[in-house]
Amino acid sequence: MKLLEAKDHLEMSRLAADIILEQVCNKSNSVLGLATGGTVLKTYQELILNHKENDISFAQVRTFNLDEYVGLSKKHENSYHSYMQKHLFNHIDIQSSNTFLPNGEAEDLERECISYEAMIDHMGGIDLQLLGIGQNGHIGFNEPGTSFNSKTHIIELEESTKLANSRYFNSLDEVPTHAVTMGISTIMQSRKILLLASGQHKASILHQLFKSDVTLDIPATILRNHPNVIIIADQEALSELHQLEGNVYAQ
Ligand code: PGA
Repeated sequence: MKLLEAKDHLEMSRLAADIILEQVCNKSNSVLGLATGGTVLKTYQELILNHKENDISFAQVRTFNLDEYVGLSKKHENSYHSYMQKHLFNHIDIQSSNTFLPNGEAEDLERECISYEAMIDHMGGIDLQLLGIGQNGHIGFNEPGTSFNSKTHIIELEESTKLANSRYFNSLDEVPTHAVTMGISTIMQSRKILLLASGQHKASILHQLFKSDVTLDIPATILRNHPNVIIIADQEALSELHQLEGNVYAQ
């Protein structure tokens, strides 16, 4: 895993956007794996800025999102379908037929998982997967204990995840209990992975990501076995690592 230190959230987002733009410039029909949540918001703003000011085109790019809540209408303001429209897709020249998210409203969710996985394969696999990290170490919605062999599947959200995401809902009770998520093996098959972490609340998990052995209890630790992972973290997120190491390192 290669670690890039950013001064702050903005610098992290700019570095991340640069890597995504480089991917798109090198391969105009790249398959991007996309994430939602607070960490990646500014990265998307930077992509939009580059599209508008530097004419970077996403017309041939294909995208697959990591996850979607089960049972929430696509039109619901907190669905990840809505998030992606609002924060990225509506502002760039991507074709909506090239954007894929799991359908959390599917009648047959098992079948939905299989066809989502098949669609990723059909498009040639993911070139670059963008990830955040949960305070419990989840990637996508792969909560602690999820098999490293998992493909796209339905998962019950941990209480801590619901609590973290309840900031977008009126109450904790409104947060969906389940989600469809790409599996850990799906994520690991991406050719390149870019994980972002920002803020003091990510300092403990980032420290564990670098220092713990690979363990099911911290799903993100599996990334240590991937040959092409870049982690970009800001100073707050790196604070626990720095306390112990006093320095930057990559491994
Ligand atoms: P966040 O979510 O970016 O909102 O912190 C990340 C995640 O839970 O994967």
